[in-house]
Amino acid sequence: MIVVTGGAGFIGSNFIHEWLIHSTEPILNLDKLSYAGNLDNLAAIIDHPQYHFIQADICCRNTLRSIFQQHQPRAVIHFAAESHVDRSIHGAEDFIHTNIIGTFSLLEEVRTYYQHLDTTSKHQFRFMHVSTDEVYGTLSPTDDPVTEAHTYQPNSPYAASKAASDHLVRAWHRTYGLPVITTHSSNNYGAYQFPEKLIPLMIMNALSDQDLPIYGDGQQTRDWIYVLDHCVALRALLEQGVVGEVYNIGGHHECTNIAVVQQICFILDQIKPRHDGRSYTEQIRFVTDRAGHDRRYAINTDKISKHIGFQPSTDFMTGLRQTILWYIEHPDWLARINTGAYRDWIAKQYHSSGSIDE
Ligand code: NAD
Ligand code: DAU
Repeated sequence: MIVVTGGAGFIGSNFIHEWLIHSTEPILNLDKLSYAGNLDNLAAIIDHPQYHFIQADICCRNTLRSIFQQHQPRAVIHFAAESHVDRSIHGAEDFIHTNIIGTFSLLEEVRTYYQHLDTTSKHQFRFMHVSTDEVYGTLSPTDDPVTEAHTYQPNSPYAASKAASDHLVRAWHRTYGLPVITTHSSNNYGAYQFPEKLIPLMIMNALSDQDLPIYGDGQQTRDWIYVLDHCVALRALLEQGVVGEVYNIGGHHECTNIAVVQQICFILDQIKPRHDGRSYTEQIRFVTDRAGHDRRYAINTDKISKHIGFQPSTDFMTGLRQTILWYIEHPDWLARINTGAYRDWIAKQYHSSGSIDE
């Protein structure tokens, strides 16, 4: 059995779906169901005999202890986090709590559990920490993509909280011998992503005749990886990754935000034209920039390619088209999110940092 934390969120739920296709090993999802945790993401596998769910907070050590004692996992994959940069700017407390205190609590309980394993089980055990390229900070247009040896320069409260969690994971390996692997992925996109992040927000707003808000000049760049490619990399690293090592995971697709949004509009123009026959690009609006906005992320992925031969297999336009089709084909999923608390958040965004510039 393996345990995943945060498996009701975007990447965690994709990971569980992918896992159940390729493995017969049971998987236990431990998730507190924050605003971003959505059991609808797992509706298709809820009755799968290899899938188990426990609603729990990673900050609650007693619960973690009894889960590990009862289920005896051979690995823990740690996705649970507060993950949205804009929310961290509006209020960092939940980020400090879950990303730092939560990771500390989890590490302590995993350490206690690990210490009592027999030698063979100890040898097999892994703690995989799912982190982000944002810990490396921002790059200039001429900088080389960052390797795993790059310095940490987190700029947002979210990135700082993830950087802190990375350091805890490293220390628990160096000090206590916990067999950890840490990953730094670039921006994921795909099905089940909460529509506060760029790609699902733009798809949802385009389809509901809303503005498409681009922060600043839209020339910021991100590297985009299709979420199922990320999940394949994590599953491979669980078996083949070297303990104590850090791996970048990227999609080999660096692109400006404005280009991403234009591509979404062009695909929508083809597959679901607006009723008035005009292009969705007419809904694009440039709005006040995000505070402290990182200009460019780009990662070097030679290490994971050399160590385990991983290459992303989904090119961006194919993955983006599949993603857009998924959101079009799941209006009920979107409708269940597009209610009270979500609308309050979007309204708050526009009221502060997201005011229209023109
Ligand atoms: P998400 O916000 O969609 O999901 C997070 C999940 O964690 C939710 O199901 C939520 O309920 C759960 N959770 C939050 N606090 C919890 C707590 N205290 N106890 C238990 N569960 C809790 O996030 P995501 O986009 O799926 O990201 C997953 C992980 O991957 C995060 O650690 C994130 O930092 C990292 N990451 C994300 C991306 C990306 O592009 N989305 C890229 C790189 C790394
Ligand atoms: O790089 C990995 C990170 O990618 C993950 O660690 C984070 O969890 C994940 O949220 C993501 O962070 P970003 O801040 O890059 O993602 P987001 O989708 O919020 O924004 C992507 C870019 O688009 C960023 O430059 C801000 C911009 N943006 C975003 C939104 C929501 C806009 O221009 N308009 C918007 O409305």
